[in-house]
Amino acid sequence: MTTEFSDPLLKYREQHKKRLSYMPWLYFSLKPKHLAWAQAWQQEYQDYLCSVESIQIGKNCFISPDAQLFAEPNRDIIIGDGSFIAADCVLHGPITLGKNVALNHHCTLDGGRMGIHISDNARLAAYCHLYAFNHGMKLDYTIHEQAVSSHGIVIGQDVWLGASVGIVDGVTIHDYAVVGMDSTVTRDVASYAIVVGNPAKKIGDRRDKK
Ligand SMILES: CC(C)(COP(=O)(O)OP(=O)(O)OC[C@H]1O[C@@H](n2cnc3c(N)ncnc32)[C@H](O)[C@@H]1OP(=O)(O)O)[C@@H](O)C(=O)NCCC(=O)NCCS
Repeated sequence: MTTEFSDPLLKYREQHKKRLSYMPWLYFSLKPKHLAWAQAWQQEYQDYLCSVESIQIGKNCFISPDAQLFAEPNRDIIIGDGSFIAADCVLHGPITLGKNVALNHHCTLDGGRMGIHISDNARLAAYCHLYAFNHGMKLDYTIHEQAVSSHGIVIGQDVWLGASVGIVDGVTIHDYAVVGMDSTVTRDVASYAIVVGNPAKKIGDRRDKK
């Protein structure tokens, strides 16, 4: 679909907003002339978001208006300073993001009852999916009739989740770990470990990297 703009500046600015929405790291190195309108745009959108959902947003964050954030009371979303949430992410609280956390496009996070906590400087590549709940599976009831369990998910600081990583409920990924592209994590991951596969298994240690 193309959008018609009679003013070339407006046309360029719409494309610039889209670029920032899908690649928000660019927001943090904008030239001053772009930063002025981009900050005003973000302030207006973040104020709106905080007025309609139970969300707290720190300083110097970027939230794409094309991300979907849902946070009823007691299912809060708290976003630390310098974090970004790219387009097409879907977040349902309770979720807390530390400082400088990156959620790239199409990440899906559902905090269940116990929540998802992502620590400072963690990077989630595109299409990661974290679900902090499971359905009961007894055969005498249908899945949707059964109680949901939730233990919560914790992602440590400076953790890198590659593209399309899945994390099931109850998992802790300890500080400085790396999870390779397309992996599914079903057990806790130790600090500094590099894990890959489905289910994810250790293949290395960041402390051995030169
Ligand atoms: C895991 C990763 C970081 C590489 O780590 P590494 O320590 O350099 O690992 P290597 O490349 O030496 O591979 C070691 C082994 O793991 C395998 N491997 C690497 N990544 C894998 C993955 N994602 N899934 C399954 N196996 C993988 C390799 O094939 C190799 O197997 P072999 O020993 O049988 O030959 C990288 O492969 C990866 O998945 N990066 C994520 C990329 C991404 O999502 N980018 C998005 C932008 S943020």
